[in-house]
Parts: sequence; C-alpha cells; structure tokens
Amino acid sequence: MDYFSYRKNKLYAEGLSVERLADELGTPLYIYSERTLKRHFKVFDSAFKKVPHLVCYSIKANSNIAVVNTFVNEGSGFDIVSGGELYRAMKAGAHPSSIVFSGVGKTAEEMGCAIREGILLFNVESGEELRQLDAVAGRLGKKASFAIRVNPDVDPKTHPYISTGLKKNKFGIAREEAIKEYVYAKNNLTNLIPLGIDTHIGSQLTQVGPFVDALKKTKRLVRTLRKEGIDIKYLDVGGGLGITYEGEKPPAPDKYAKAVIRETAGLDVTLIFEPGRVLVGNAGILVTRVLYTKKTPQKNFIIVDAGMNDLLRPGLYGSYHAIEPVQRGRGGAVITADVVGPICETGDFIARDREMEEAVGGDLLAVKSAGAYGYTMSSNYNSRLRAAEVMVRGREYFVIKKRESYADLVRGEVIPPVKTAVKSKKRG
Ligand code: LLP
Repeated sequence: MDYFSYRKNKLYAEGLSVERLADELGTPLYIYSERTLKRHFKVFDSAFKKVPHLVCYSIKANSNIAVVNTFVNEGSGFDIVSGGELYRAMKAGAHPSSIVFSGVGKTAEEMGCAIREGILLFNVESGEELRQLDAVAGRLGKKASFAIRVNPDVDPKTHPYISTGLKKNKFGIAREEAIKEYVYAKNNLTNLIPLGIDTHIGSQLTQVGPFVDALKKTKRLVRTLRKEGIDIKYLDVGGGLGITYEGEKPPAPDKYAKAVIRETAGLDVTLIFEPGRVLVGNAGILVTRVLYTKKTPQKNFIIVDAGMNDLLRPGLYGSYHAIEPVQRGRGGAVITADVVGPICETGDFIARDREMEEAVGGDLLAVKSAGAYGYTMSSNYNSRLRAAEVMVRGREYFVIKKRESYADLVRGEVIPPVKTAVKSKKRG
C-alpha cells in the first residue's frame, strides 16, 4: 500500500500534484513518499514484534541520506556494503551499534573505518576476509564481531543476476567450510568475536519456501556451532522479500514473518533482517516527460526524457515497471508502444511492447515502483545529468538531491598540461 493516488484523474504523491512537482522541479524526477516509507517500515518491523529482532534497512536499495534518516527515525538499523554506505549511514544519524557490514570485497581500509565507528558486526564471506578482519582489528587494538555468511545452496527462484544463495554464486561460504572457519577463528583469531550467522539468498523473492529452506539449514548449523562452543547470538536472515511490479504476489510481511518465526522458534537468537526493496520500492516513482513520438512500420515509440542512465532495471534485467499517465482519462486510444530514452543504445528502454494510452509530446508519465534500485543504479552515461530526488511529506516537499549541473558532470576531471616540445640541439 502506498500514497500515490489519483484525484480527479490527476496523479498525486500524498497531498501534492505530481504535475506541479514536475513543472517546478523539472524531469526526470524521482519522487518519494515519506508516509509510504514510514508505513512500510512499521508493517515490516511490527510483523516481528513478538521476537527479539533488528531490522537493518539495506542502504543499497535507496541510499539518499534523507531516506536513510527517515528509517533512523523509525528505529531502523542498517545493512551496508561499502565505506560509502557507512559514510551515508553516519551522515544520516544512524547508530553504529545497529549496523551490519556485508559484501564479498571489503577492503582493509573499509574494515578499519567500520571497526573505529563500532558497528555491530561484519558479515564475512571468505576465509581470507576473516583473517584480514582479524589483522585490521589487531592493528587498531580492538575486537571485531563477525557472522559468517553461509551459502545454503538454495534456489531463490528469482532473476539469475540477483540469485545469491546457490553454490555456483560468489557469495558466502559452504556449510562444512564455515564450521572450520568458526573453529579456526575461535582458536586462532584473537581479535575476533563470533557473534552470529548470516544468510541472504537473493532479491525479489515471491515465495516463502526458499527462505524456509535456507533457514532449516542455517538452524542446524547454529546447533552444530553451539556444540563446538561457538555462541551464536544473532541470526541474520538477509533481505530479499519481493514486491509487486506486475501482478506478482509476494508474501506480505506478516506471512513471511510467521514462517520465519515458526522456523526459528526455540533457537534463542536475535533475528536480523536486511530488507531493501520491500521498504522503498513502491515508495518511489520516476516522473518523465514525453519528448517525441514516432511510428515505424514495426513499432510505436514513445521517446521520453528518462533513459537507462536514470533507471537501469528494464535494460539490465528486463524488469517490468508499470507506467501510468500523470493526467489520465483523456480518452486517448490504447496502443502498443516501446517507451524509450534518449541514450544511444537499443537496450535503452523503460518498457517494451506495452499496451498503454497514446501519449504526445509534453505529456508526463509516472514510472512506478522506482524507489528501489532506481536512483542508486543511475549513472552519467551519455553525459546525462543525474535526475533530482524529492521527498513529499503531506503537502510539503523537500528536494533531497539537486539535479546535477554540467559543472557536477566534470567535477574532478583534469586535462593534463600540453607537452612542451624538447628542442633538438643544432648540429655543427
Ligand atoms: N542484504 C544483502 C547482503 C544484499 O546483497 C541485498 C541486495 C539485500 C540485503 C537487500 O535485498 P532486497 O531486500 O532489496 O531484495 N539491483 C537489483 C537488486 C540487487 C540486490 C542486491 N542485494 C534490482 O534492481 O532488482
């Protein structure tokens, strides 16, 4: 449930007309609804109220510090995957003791920053990383807590690019090896504290089954580790709960929670969750203006001012995003069209063969479910300026990221000085 709705056929973000926002702030424009963000957090968090738990919003889904701050105020912790995300979390007012650090390639420098900040734990993904973490903590004269991300070899039944819990994926450590690493760390890596166990099997999951399968395996592992004298206090279930883009019926948070709670009953752990998409996906839209339309013998094209640099998901994964007119009900004919951006690539599309109301130059379209992995995956490709982001709160709005300027575009770029010619000595 979100707070984007039509009033008299005009699309509103909470109490503000999307057309007005687009006219005042330009397009392409990312619009987020603060009320939706808060609601999504509350629904997710309260689904687990009966058990000890910590929701760590996965910053990669939407890392604007205003969005992160909204979740700080709701009492969220955070899942980070880089020094940059740690920086954002701290800027947004996050409490370090509720931060978990995931990812296969943390650098020693990133580890050092996170240890100094005093984060809750590192989700470690290889034996080498574990030794590196111990060394960094030792150099700082501190202890670092860790969980090993175990690869449960479970098929999450989602897009292959965002499946992470299969043996062939680069993520996590297999069960037997993970046990050895915990024992090795206990006996040899004196700067580390084994605090938890972690598993994240993929993103945009639309069934509870794969989560349950992964939990069954992790649960057994927790018991084995405890027998080895390794006290597992946290079980990090990861993120991955899906949303509806096109008729998918992912489990609602309470259904997901029931299954997780049932599966972990009696285990005596604090559960950690790393939701991203389910909190922010449907709390954001991308508004774009139609530039031109064009008919070819094969296709109708609607050329808009948002490209794959603004929203990469359709081009990269073939993802579906609903597209709605900002002003509807004008009685235009329904056509089948490709909605494409200005970028010089055939993969630059927002929708293909989409049945939609005919649009003309100047019309505004709302690309739905763009709050997750929208702006965060945007780029300057084709030297296009990154869009603005705005947060709506009731009838107020706040520009939370200014549209980039041409000066932003070349910031940090330097032209080397012209090479001065070396004069050759005259002979004789
Ligand atoms: N935790 C870890 C360790 C992750 O790798 C991810 C996402 C999450 C949590 C959050 O997952 P979520 O709840 O959002 O599914 N760019 C892709 C999604 C990539 C997901 C990467 N990892 C997309 O646009 O669909």
